[in-house]
Amino acid sequence: RPALAVHGGAGLADPAIRDAQRAGAGAALAAGWQVLHAGGSALDAVCVAVRILEDCPVFNAGTGSCLTADGRVEMDASVAEGTTLRAGAVALVTRTRHPVAIARGLLDRGGTVFLAGDAADAWAHAHGLAPCTQEDLITARQRELWARGRAGLNTGTVGAVAVDGRGHTAAATSTGGIMGKPSGRIGDSPVIGAGTCADDGLGAASATGEGEAILRLGLGRHALALLADGRDPAVAAVEAIAALERRTGGRGGLILVDPLGRIGSACNAPAMAWGWMRADRDAPAIGF
Ligand code: GLY
Repeated sequence: RPALAVHGGAGLADPAIRDAQRAGAGAALAAGWQVLHAGGSALDAVCVAVRILEDCPVFNAGTGSCLTADGRVEMDASVAEGTTLRAGAVALVTRTRHPVAIARGLLDRGGTVFLAGDAADAWAHAHGLAPCTQEDLITARQRELWARGRAGLNTGTVGAVAVDGRGHTAAATSTGGIMGKPSGRIGDSPVIGAGTCADDGLGAASATGEGEAILRLGLGRHALALLADGRDPAVAAVEAIAALERRTGGRGGLILVDPLGRIGSACNAPAMAWGWMRADRDAPAIGF
C-alpha cells in the first residue's frame, strides 16, 4: 500500500531546466520512499521530499523562489496529516531556508497552526532552525526572470502526498508564490483545504498553480471530496482540475493519493513536473 507522489509545480515549460527538475524530483522521491520503505510515516516522507525540493534551485520554493514586485523572496508552506488532522502552515517567510520545516514544527507542537511574516521566522529561529539571508534564497535565474519582467504563472511550487503502510495519509506544499506578486500576498499553498489537504478516510492532495483560483475553489478539499465514493484518484484529479477551470477560469495542477495507494495527477497549465513511487515499481516514474 505505501505510495508517494511529488510535484515540481505547474506553469510554463522551460526546457533549459527540465533535466535538473527531473533529477530533483527523483532525489525527492528516493528520499521520501526510503522513509516509507523502512516503515516510516507518510508525514515524515512528505516532509523529507519537500525539503529536498526546497533546496533544489530549479524549483520555485526555498532556494530558487521567485521574487515579489519589489524584488524580495516571500515564501509560503504547509503540511497536514490525515489521521488526527494536525496541520502546520507559514506565510511570508523571508529568513529561513526550509519553510516546510517551520510548518512541520508547528504541526508537531500543536496549538498554533498558522504563523505569518516575521513571527514565522522568529518562531523558526527560536526552535532551532538556522536563519538565512535573502541573498541565500535568491538565485541568478530568478533575479534575471524578475529583471525581464516575467510576472505571472509560477513555474515550480513543490509538493508531496503519501500514504504509509498503516494507511495514514499526509501532504506538504511549499512555494515562493507567483513572480512579481505584491509584497504581502499569500497564495493557496499554506492554506489547509486549498493547497494542501489530508484525510485518512479519503486521501491526500497537494496543489500548484494560480493561488487565487485554488483558494476560491478550495481545490484540495474539493479533490478529496471527489474520492468519497471510491473513485480512482486519476479520475478525481482530472475532475478537480476541470472544476478549477470551469468555476474560476484558473490554471493549475494537482497530485492525489488515496488510502489504497492509488495515485492521480492532472494539470491544465502548459507543464507540471511530477513523479511517483509505489511498492509494485522497481523505480520511480517521473514525467512532465
Ligand atoms: N500556487 C502558489 C501560489 O499561488 O502562491
